[in-house]
Amino acid sequence: MQVIRVKNYNEMSEKAADMLAAQVKSKSDSVLGLATGGTPEGTYKAFVQKALQENLSLSELTTFNLDEYVGLSPQHPKSYHLYMKNHLFQPLALQPSQTNLPRGNAPHLEKEAERYERMIKEVGGIDLQLLGIGENGHIGFNEPGTSFTSRTHIEKLNPTTREANARYFENKEDVPEHAITMGISSILDSRSILLLASGERKKEAVKRLLEDENTREDFPASSLKNHPYVTIIADEHALAVVSKTDEPSEKDEAKPL
Ligand code: PGA
Repeated sequence: MQVIRVKNYNEMSEKAADMLAAQVKSKSDSVLGLATGGTPEGTYKAFVQKALQENLSLSELTTFNLDEYVGLSPQHPKSYHLYMKNHLFQPLALQPSQTNLPRGNAPHLEKEAERYERMIKEVGGIDLQLLGIGENGHIGFNEPGTSFTSRTHIEKLNPTTREANARYFENKEDVPEHAITMGISSILDSRSILLLASGERKKEAVKRLLEDENTREDFPASSLKNHPYVTIIADEHALAVVSKTDEPSEKDEAKPL
């Protein structure tokens, strides 16, 4: 894993947007894996600016999001469908046929999960997967204890995750109890991974990710140690309690994105 240390959220967002732009420039028919939440909002904003300024060609781009809340329609104001539409798809004028999210209100969720896996496979897999990290180490909505061999599936959200995401809902009780999420194995199939972490809230998770050499299913982000091309962009707040950070160790490889 290569760690890039940045000062703050803005710097993280700019760097991440640069990497997304570099990916799209080097391969116009890139398949991007996308994330939601507070972390990537700035990245999307910076990417939209860059794409418009530089007139990036995006017509061949395909995107797949990590997850969606079960029970929310794509039009629901708190759905990840709407989040993506507002933050990225609409500003970039991406066509609906280019963008994919699992449907949280599909009548048969297991079939939806299978369909989603099939769709990713049919386009040849994900070139670059953007990830955040939960305070409990989740990636996507894969909560502690999720099998590293998991594919897209339905996940019961931990109370701490529902608590963390309650800030986006009017009432804590409104946060859905389940999500449909790419599995750990689906994520690790991506050819490269870019994980973003910002803020003090993430410091313990980032410390464990960088300092604990074990890969354990009770800490889903540790599965990333099994992937050859992971870049982490973390700010000083997220790195606050990590003793050694910015020098990639000798055995680490970083693939230019
Ligand atoms: P956040 O969520 O970006 O809203 O902090 C990240 C995550 O839970 O993966």
